[in-house]
Amino acid sequence: MEFTDSTTTRTAKVVVVIQQKGGAGKSTIAVNTAACAGRSAPMPADDETGAPVVAAGIDVQGTLERWCAGVREQALPFDYVVTKSKTGILPSIIEDPSRRRIIVDTPGFLDVDPDADWGADPLGQSRTADAMREVLEVADLAIVPITPSSMTWSECEFTIERVLKPRSIPYLVVINMHDPAKDKSERQLSKVKAWVDERNYPRVSEPIRRYSIHEHAFENGTLVTEYKMSGTALNAREDFMRVALTMEQML
Ligand SMILES: Nc1ncnc2c1ncn2[C@@H]1O[C@H](COP(=O)(O)OP(=O)(O)OP(=O)(O)O)[C@@H](O)[C@H]1O
Ligand SMILES: [Mg+2]
Repeated sequence: MEFTDSTTTRTAKVVVVIQQKGGAGKSTIAVNTAACAGRSAPMPADDETGAPVVAAGIDVQGTLERWCAGVREQALPFDYVVTKSKTGILPSIIEDPSRRRIIVDTPGFLDVDPDADWGADPLGQSRTADAMREVLEVADLAIVPITPSSMTWSECEFTIERVLKPRSIPYLVVINMHDPAKDKSERQLSKVKAWVDERNYPRVSEPIRRYSIHEHAFENGTLVTEYKMSGTALNAREDFMRVALTMEQML
């Protein structure tokens, strides 16, 4: 068995979905990647043992909790926990030997310290910042969403250069919301791919496409693994399966 740190015997790997900019798809990616990972890791037969995959949310709003609470119990292939930025909850889950993957949804962090020195922690002082630091301390991998619209690019760079690199956390960029109907020639998509590649940021080979089916997943309590099978649903599932697979390759 492989351990990330010789000082602990933990079996769980922690993957944090992080991007300074709000709305790039962190929660959507965290929940659906957990669903894909959970589908390939059988749930324990008894109620005492925890599921191998855990989706965790640290935002104060508890987005993940509201989403997962709406999913039929038999359809949920992972456990979920919401810390609402309380520290001390995640470390005990991570030490639980029945856990293999903890996928953490984080809030956008807008209150960064603009005066922080280059290389200094820009997360600032707040309850959320403390919760972020706690997760980052144990993270084995970060997934950073970026969109074809350049609105998220500088925040992607900031997240990688100022938050992840100084902590030596491996990261993976994933392009989200490529619109196959509006960007038929893939001009926008090529631009964002080139931007990521110029910086030598590792990325998931193909984007997560924009489908309206995802927009209602939160209020409907659906996971990509549960979508009724149609052409779009198959594509949608393939996109998140690819993210889960690439994540596994990096762990
Ligand atoms: N691939 C996609 N196709 C269509 N809609 C998407 C896709 N990804 C995300 N969305 C939608 O975009 C909105 C923002 O996504 P999401 O809530 O996952 O972002 P976030 O980064 O978690 O935002 P926040 O920083 O506010 O927590 C949501 O309404 C979601 O349903
Ligand atoms: Mg979110």
